[in-house]
Amino acid sequence: MNKDWHSEVDGDHGGEPLVTVRDLVRTFGNDRVIDGVSFDIKAGEFVAISGPSGSGKTTLLHLLAALDRPDTGTIRVAGHDLVHLHRLTEYRRNQIGLVFQLHNLIPRLTSRQNVAIAMFGTGLGHRERARRAEELLATVGLAHRAGSKPPTMSGGERQRVAVARALANEPALLLADEPTGSLDDDSAALVLDLFDDLRARTGLTLLAASHDPRLNERSDRLLRLADGHIASVETP
Ligand SMILES: Nc1ncnc2c1ncn2[C@@H]1O[C@H](COP(=O)(O)OP(=O)(O)OP(=O)(O)O)[C@@H](O)[C@H]1O
Ligand SMILES: [Mg+2]
Repeated sequence: MNKDWHSEVDGDHGGEPLVTVRDLVRTFGNDRVIDGVSFDIKAGEFVAISGPSGSGKTTLLHLLAALDRPDTGTIRVAGHDLVHLHRLTEYRRNQIGLVFQLHNLIPRLTSRQNVAIAMFGTGLGHRERARRAEELLATVGLAHRAGSKPPTMSGGERQRVAVARALANEPALLLADEPTGSLDDDSAALVLDLFDDLRARTGLTLLAASHDPRLNERSDRLLRLADGHIASVETP
């Protein structure tokens, strides 16, 4: 894998944070779920967001992934102004890796195919996608599972396939929603070790929403959401 995939991003933005969020508001009906949230994330940082169920963690990740739009406020990711961006599909494919809580793997496809799917539309041919999918599975310690289908794999293994898929297009930012939520201690440790390893080797920037103290205590910064805003910032 290209070890310097983030050097461009750092260079291009000359010290500007990779992510800049200002005065973000997102309402559903009368409910101001996100009510004036501002924060930055530096390239290479691991930021965790915690907060009670319903506090807006998933909503915030969706806004950063350009799967949703704010009512007001600004979001910049890797130099892209998400509020005014028109090429959203390209942004999602090229800049963002997303790991969903329920990992969204396709059960009847092999791990290799599940990872390769993320590379449709990038111009890579079938063989190249399969080759790169195997490389990514090796990165997450699952080279031997390339031909296995999700239903035959453990929760931790599936979550690592989901991480491999999220990394397929060398995203500037990895967004992960409860990536360890459904995992036992051993599997959670494997996923968290994988994040540490990726950060050390590639400079990956990670934003993870989690209730999980095992994840939160390994972050560089922990933002606690409450009543629509950031109630506290801790450095674990
Ligand atoms: N599309 C939507 N339409 C209406 N309300 C929504 C929508 N998406 C989220 N909400 C509401 O916004 C609030 C925040 O939801 P969100 O999923 O962001 O919470 P969360 O912090 O991720 O919670 P959890 O820890 O349970 O995953 C909830 O009250 C939810 O019902
Ligand atoms: Mg959520």
